[in-house]
Amino acid sequence: MSKYHRIAALLKEGEVGTEVSVKGWVRSLRTGKGVAFIALNDGSCLTSLQIVLDATLPDFEEISRLGTGSAIGVEGTLVASPAKGQSVELQATKVTVYGTVDDKYPLQKKHHTFEFLRTIAHLRPRSNTFGAVFRVRSALSFAIHKFFRERGFIYVHTPIITANDCEGAGEQFRVTTLDIGAPPRNDFGVDFCQDFFGQPTQLTVSGQLEGEVLACGLTSIYTFGPTFRSENSNTSRHAAEFWMVEPEIAFADLADDADLAEDFIKYLCRFVLEECAEDMAFFDKQIDPGAIERVRALAEARFARMDYNEAIERLEKAGTSFQYPVRWGLDLQTEHERYLSEQVVGGPLFVLNYPKDIKAFYMRQNDDGRTVAAMDLLVPKVGEIIGGSQREERLDLLEKRMDEIGISKESLSWYLDSRRWGSCPHAGFGLGFERLIMHLTGMENIRDVIPFPRTPGHAEF
Ligand code: 4AD
Ligand code: MG
Repeated sequence: MSKYHRIAALLKEGEVGTEVSVKGWVRSLRTGKGVAFIALNDGSCLTSLQIVLDATLPDFEEISRLGTGSAIGVEGTLVASPAKGQSVELQATKVTVYGTVDDKYPLQKKHHTFEFLRTIAHLRPRSNTFGAVFRVRSALSFAIHKFFRERGFIYVHTPIITANDCEGAGEQFRVTTLDIGAPPRNDFGVDFCQDFFGQPTQLTVSGQLEGEVLACGLTSIYTFGPTFRSENSNTSRHAAEFWMVEPEIAFADLADDADLAEDFIKYLCRFVLEECAEDMAFFDKQIDPGAIERVRALAEARFARMDYNEAIERLEKAGTSFQYPVRWGLDLQTEHERYLSEQVVGGPLFVLNYPKDIKAFYMRQNDDGRTVAAMDLLVPKVGEIIGGSQREERLDLLEKRMDEIGISKESLSWYLDSRRWGSCPHAGFGLGFERLIMHLTGMENIRDVIPFPRTPGHAEF
């Protein structure tokens, strides 16, 4: 690979008069009298570098016929740019053509709908919007590690193949090497003893259970990895494969957990405003007017906290007709979550202490006997972006709850050991990474914030 410059660096600190080399894809080409201009983009930033080609250049005729999408390399001299908004442009001395396009190239037009771009997910990284989304996604991934590292959290890798169903919702993808056409059978059905792991296994829905036992030794940990859910909800907020950030803190209660989540979200807001200023300005202008102000307000907000009991009362008094029923004991739907954060508090809101029957087995039981120490963070437009809880650290109560729900204590005996020996209060949460990106950028569909979305019926790319 020959050495070349990235366009972001040149636009930021390129000095007039220096010889540089760039490579990228033609965004547009226009010709004038004895001259041609190419807007070249290499994905390092939103702005394309203006390339100036004189007719005296060898192969000028051929180059000035290049189509949008062609891959080229350009050598030349940086000169001061007369164009507004750019400091420098590149006066070309040599152009290398790597790959041309024909008239079937689908990205020739300037504007395409997101629906259309989803059908060409392998080409959309070359568009302005998806360049911006994936740069923000990358920057936020880094910021997540930075936040936790600055606070002494240990980054742990939890397994992707698992034998447990952490959330207990039965929304898992099976992992097997058995012949699905003719699996071995025993008296009870499929004989999983003959499967690769000697038992049924699935893709994980959450790294929490493993994260908990790691925290009960390392004190503060986090995971950041892919999780999988086969829930058949074809919504703009659900993906079958999504990334989750899951911190777990020992010697912490629900209030500590909410404090951590609040600091975390605010930190990520500040980071994206500072480090992705150009892309955020693009979202603010093109995608979601007011996005920057919204993220700035979130970075400075005091996150409201409200008990589930009160949330239900507020919803019952709403005077809005919801599609789904509202009653104590029922889970909140996105329309309720949005109403609470958008209409009732006008900002981010933690709903705390949900009925135990709609939450997972591991949550700490409150003294009222009917709620658990759960928390969801709800934000305008998206609804829930974080789900967390204080965990049940009392062995007897945890075992009793598992029996009530019908969760096998034998298969989770390793998990129960953390309560058997040296048990301690602990808490944690899971942040849906795509939902965070949606909230920060204003992108409205989860399919448009992950490069290759996995949703019901779609795994083609
Ligand atoms: O609320 P959830 O189900 O919580 C857990 O999995 C806990 N074990 C986390 C923990 O305490 N360590 O999921 C956490 C977050 C949700 O708030 C949501 O943002 C996101 O994960 N999420 C999804 N994102 C996209 N597509 C889906 N199908 C999602 N399901 C959950
Ligand atoms: Mg949840």
